Amino acid sequence: MRILITAGPTREPIDPVRYLSNRSSGKMGYALAEAALAHGHEVLLVSGPVSLSPPAAAETVFVETAAEMHEAVAREIGSCQCALFCAAVADYRVEEVAEAKIKKSGDSLTLTLIQNPDILGSARDRFGFTGILVGFAAETDALETHAREKMERKGCDLLVANDVSRSDIGFDREENEVVLFYRNGKKESLPRDSKRRIADRIIEVIEGINRESDA
Ligand code: CTP
Repeated sequence: MRILITAGPTREPIDPVRYLSNRSSGKMGYALAEAALAHGHEVLLVSGPVSLSPPAAAETVFVETAAEMHEAVAREIGSCQCALFCAAVADYRVEEVAEAKIKKSGDSLTLTLIQNPDILGSARDRFGFTGILVGFAAETDALETHAREKMERKGCDLLVANDVSRSDIGFDREENEVVLFYRNGKKESLPRDSKRRIADRIIEVIEGINRESDA
Protein backbone atom coordinates (compact mmCIF):
# COMPACT_ATOMS: atom_id res chain seq x y z
CA MET A 1 0.00 0.00 0.00
CA ARG A 2 0.94 3.64 -0.32
CA ILE A 3 0.38 5.10 3.15
CA LEU A 4 0.06 8.77 4.03
CA ILE A 5 1.11 9.67 7.56
CA THR A 6 0.71 13.07 9.22
CA ALA A 7 3.12 13.64 12.09
CA GLY A 8 4.30 16.18 14.64
CA PRO A 9 2.74 19.45 15.77
CA THR A 10 1.71 22.43 13.69
CA ARG A 11 2.89 25.98 14.36
CA GLU A 12 0.46 28.83 14.12
CA PRO A 13 2.18 32.22 13.82
CA ILE A 14 1.31 35.17 16.08
CA ASP A 15 3.88 37.58 14.62
CA PRO A 16 7.23 37.10 12.81
CA VAL A 17 8.93 35.71 15.94
CA ARG A 18 6.17 33.97 17.93
CA TYR A 19 3.82 31.07 17.40
CA LEU A 20 1.28 28.79 19.10
CA SER A 21 2.07 25.10 19.11
CA ASN A 22 1.90 21.98 21.30
CA ARG A 23 4.13 19.34 22.88
CA SER A 24 4.05 16.77 20.08
CA SER A 25 7.55 15.52 19.18
CA GLY A 26 6.56 13.59 16.05
CA LYS A 27 8.06 10.38 17.47
CA MET A 28 4.89 8.29 17.08
CA GLY A 29 4.30 9.41 13.50
CA TYR A 30 7.94 8.84 12.54
CA ALA A 31 7.85 5.38 14.20
CA LEU A 32 4.77 4.57 12.09
CA ALA A 33 6.63 5.68 8.95
CA GLU A 34 9.55 3.38 9.82
CA ALA A 35 7.25 0.46 10.64
CA ALA A 36 5.26 0.89 7.41
CA LEU A 37 8.48 0.94 5.35
CA ALA A 38 9.79 -2.13 7.18
CA HIS A 39 6.54 -3.91 6.24
CA GLY A 40 7.20 -3.14 2.57
CA HIS A 41 4.79 -0.21 2.11
CA GLU A 42 5.42 3.12 0.39
CA VAL A 43 5.26 6.08 2.76
CA LEU A 44 4.32 9.69 2.19
CA LEU A 45 5.10 11.56 5.40
CA VAL A 46 3.50 14.98 5.92
CA SER A 47 5.43 16.38 8.83
CA GLY A 48 5.11 19.43 11.02
CA PRO A 49 8.29 20.97 12.53
CA VAL A 50 10.14 18.32 14.58
CA SER A 51 13.76 17.69 15.49
CA LEU A 52 13.85 14.16 14.00
CA SER A 53 15.25 13.01 10.66
CA PRO A 54 12.66 11.34 8.46
CA PRO A 55 13.41 7.81 7.23
CA ALA A 56 15.39 8.12 3.99
CA ALA A 57 13.01 5.82 2.12
CA ALA A 58 9.95 7.94 2.92
CA GLU A 59 8.78 10.72 0.63
CA THR A 60 8.53 13.64 3.07
CA VAL A 61 6.68 16.94 2.78
CA PHE A 62 7.46 19.47 5.52
CA VAL A 63 4.79 21.94 6.60
CA GLU A 64 4.42 24.48 9.39
CA THR A 65 0.78 25.41 9.82
CA ALA A 66 -2.46 23.42 9.91
CA ALA A 67 -3.53 25.18 6.71
CA GLU A 68 -0.34 23.99 4.96
CA MET A 69 -0.85 20.45 6.29
CA HIS A 70 -4.45 20.52 5.05
CA GLU A 71 -3.27 21.60 1.60
CA ALA A 72 -0.54 18.94 1.42
CA VAL A 73 -2.97 16.18 2.46
CA ALA A 74 -5.61 17.41 -0.01
CA ARG A 75 -2.99 17.18 -2.78
CA GLU A 76 -1.54 13.77 -1.86
CA ILE A 77 -4.29 11.63 -0.28
CA GLY A 78 -5.81 10.56 -3.60
CA SER A 79 -2.68 8.54 -4.46
CA CYS A 80 -2.78 6.61 -1.14
CA GLN A 81 -4.69 3.50 -0.05
CA CYS A 82 -4.36 4.25 3.64
CA ALA A 83 -3.99 7.45 5.69
CA LEU A 84 -2.86 7.71 9.32
CA PHE A 85 -3.53 11.05 11.00
CA CYS A 86 -1.04 11.08 13.81
CA ALA A 87 -0.28 14.83 13.80
CA ALA A 88 -1.26 17.00 16.75
CA VAL A 89 -2.86 19.69 14.62
CA ALA A 90 -3.53 23.01 16.34
CA ASP A 91 -7.31 23.36 16.50
CA TYR A 92 -7.07 27.17 16.29
CA ARG A 93 -4.91 29.82 14.64
CA VAL A 94 -4.52 33.53 15.26
CA GLU A 95 -7.05 35.44 13.20
CA GLU A 96 -4.77 38.33 12.29
CA VAL A 97 -1.06 37.56 12.21
CA ALA A 98 0.90 40.73 13.00
CA GLU A 99 3.33 41.75 10.28
CA ALA A 100 5.77 43.25 12.78
CA LYS A 101 6.81 41.95 16.19
CA ILE A 102 4.13 42.78 18.77
CA LYS A 103 5.46 45.26 21.33
CA LYS A 104 4.67 45.03 25.04
CA SER A 105 1.87 47.41 25.97
CA GLY A 106 -0.45 47.23 28.97
CA ASP A 107 -0.93 44.36 31.41
CA SER A 108 -2.76 42.03 29.08
CA LEU A 109 -2.89 41.12 25.44
CA THR A 110 -5.87 39.55 23.72
CA LEU A 111 -5.49 37.34 20.67
CA THR A 112 -8.51 36.23 18.68
CA LEU A 113 -8.25 32.61 17.57
CA ILE A 114 -10.26 31.06 14.76
CA GLN A 115 -10.75 27.39 14.00
CA ASN A 116 -8.37 25.52 11.70
CA PRO A 117 -9.68 23.04 9.14
CA ASP A 118 -10.15 19.54 10.54
CA ILE A 119 -7.86 17.59 8.21
CA LEU A 120 -8.90 14.08 9.28
CA GLY A 121 -12.52 15.25 9.32
CA SER A 122 -12.15 16.40 5.69
CA ALA A 123 -10.81 13.07 4.42
CA ARG A 124 -14.11 11.37 3.62
CA ASP A 125 -16.42 14.27 2.80
CA ARG A 126 -14.15 16.88 1.22
CA PHE A 127 -11.28 14.81 -0.20
CA GLY A 128 -13.51 11.83 -1.15
CA PHE A 129 -11.02 9.38 0.37
CA THR A 130 -12.25 5.78 0.28
CA GLY A 131 -9.13 4.02 1.60
CA ILE A 132 -8.36 2.88 5.15
CA LEU A 133 -8.64 5.87 7.48
CA VAL A 134 -6.93 5.87 10.86
CA GLY A 135 -7.41 8.61 13.46
CA PHE A 136 -5.60 9.30 16.69
CA ALA A 137 -7.11 10.71 19.85
CA ALA A 138 -5.29 12.28 22.73
CA GLU A 139 -7.62 12.31 25.70
CA THR A 140 -7.36 13.18 29.35
CA ASP A 141 -10.66 11.65 30.50
CA ALA A 142 -13.48 9.29 29.39
CA LEU A 143 -11.09 7.77 26.83
CA GLU A 144 -13.46 5.20 25.31
CA THR A 145 -16.50 7.50 25.03
CA HIS A 146 -14.51 10.29 23.39
CA ALA A 147 -12.58 7.91 21.15
CA ARG A 148 -15.69 6.15 19.82
CA GLU A 149 -17.48 9.44 19.21
CA LYS A 150 -14.44 10.83 17.33
CA MET A 151 -14.13 7.65 15.26
CA GLU A 152 -17.77 7.84 14.19
CA ARG A 153 -17.75 11.58 13.50
CA LYS A 154 -14.60 11.46 11.35
CA GLY A 155 -15.44 8.20 9.49
CA CYS A 156 -12.39 6.25 10.69
CA ASP A 157 -11.80 2.50 10.24
CA LEU A 158 -9.53 2.47 13.26
CA LEU A 159 -8.90 4.90 16.09
CA VAL A 160 -5.76 4.88 18.21
CA ALA A 161 -6.38 6.50 21.60
CA ASN A 162 -3.95 7.45 24.29
CA ASP A 163 -4.28 8.97 27.71
CA VAL A 164 -2.24 12.18 27.68
CA SER A 165 -2.89 12.92 31.35
CA ARG A 166 -0.06 10.46 32.12
CA SER A 167 3.45 11.92 32.07
CA ASP A 168 5.26 8.57 31.66
CA ILE A 169 3.90 7.85 28.18
CA GLY A 170 2.80 9.76 25.11
CA PHE A 171 3.96 13.30 24.32
CA ASP A 172 7.71 13.46 23.77
CA ARG A 173 8.32 10.08 25.46
CA GLU A 174 10.01 7.06 23.94
CA GLU A 175 7.16 4.80 25.00
CA ASN A 176 3.44 4.78 24.53
CA GLU A 177 0.43 2.78 25.67
CA VAL A 178 -2.65 2.93 23.48
CA VAL A 179 -6.06 1.40 22.95
CA LEU A 180 -7.16 0.53 19.42
CA PHE A 181 -10.87 0.93 18.66
CA TYR A 182 -12.14 -1.00 15.66
CA ARG A 183 -15.19 -0.18 13.58
CA ASN A 184 -16.93 -3.41 14.57
CA GLY A 185 -16.94 -2.36 18.24
CA LYS A 186 -13.91 -4.45 19.19
CA LYS A 187 -11.07 -2.88 21.15
CA GLU A 188 -7.47 -3.93 21.75
CA SER A 189 -5.22 -2.54 24.48
CA LEU A 190 -1.53 -2.39 23.61
CA PRO A 191 0.49 -2.46 26.83
CA ARG A 192 3.27 0.07 27.41
CA ASP A 193 6.01 -0.46 24.86
CA SER A 194 8.36 1.43 22.54
CA LYS A 195 6.63 3.64 19.99
CA ARG A 196 8.24 1.53 17.26
CA ARG A 197 6.73 -1.74 18.55
CA ILE A 198 3.33 -0.06 18.99
CA ALA A 199 3.70 1.22 15.41
CA ASP A 200 4.48 -2.31 14.14
CA ARG A 201 1.22 -3.59 15.68
CA ILE A 202 -0.81 -0.71 14.21
CA ILE A 203 0.59 -1.50 10.75
CA GLU A 204 -0.28 -5.22 11.19
CA VAL A 205 -3.84 -4.28 12.16
CA ILE A 206 -4.13 -2.06 9.07
CA GLU A 207 -2.88 -4.92 6.89
CA GLY A 208 -5.62 -7.10 8.42
CA ILE A 209 -8.28 -4.47 7.61
CA ASN A 210 -6.91 -4.28 4.04
CA ARG A 211 -7.12 -8.07 3.62
CA GLU A 212 -10.72 -8.05 4.90
CA SER A 213 -11.72 -5.28 2.50
CA ASP A 214 -10.12 -7.19 -0.41
CA ALA A 215 -11.96 -10.41 0.49
N1 CTP B 1 -6.96 16.28 13.44
C1 CTP B 1 -6.79 16.82 12.17
N2 CTP B 1 -6.98 18.16 11.98
C2 CTP B 1 -7.34 18.97 13.01
C3 CTP B 1 -7.52 18.43 14.31
C4 CTP B 1 -7.31 17.08 14.47
O1 CTP B 1 -6.45 16.08 11.24
N3 CTP B 1 -7.52 20.26 12.78
C5 CTP B 1 -6.82 14.83 13.63
C6 CTP B 1 -5.63 14.40 14.47
O2 CTP B 1 -4.49 14.18 13.66
C7 CTP B 1 -6.16 13.12 15.10
C8 CTP B 1 -7.64 13.36 15.26
O3 CTP B 1 -7.95 14.38 14.31
O4 CTP B 1 -6.02 12.01 14.24
C9 CTP B 1 -8.10 13.74 16.64
O5 CTP B 1 -7.72 15.00 16.98
P1 CTP B 1 -8.31 15.76 18.25
O6 CTP B 1 -7.72 17.11 18.26
O7 CTP B 1 -8.14 14.91 19.45
O8 CTP B 1 -9.86 15.78 17.90
P2 CTP B 1 -10.88 16.92 17.83
O9 CTP B 1 -11.87 16.47 16.83
O10 CTP B 1 -10.21 18.23 17.62
O11 CTP B 1 -11.59 16.85 19.23
P3 CTP B 1 -11.30 17.57 20.62
O12 CTP B 1 -10.21 18.60 20.42
O13 CTP B 1 -12.60 18.14 20.94
O14 CTP B 1 -10.87 16.46 21.54
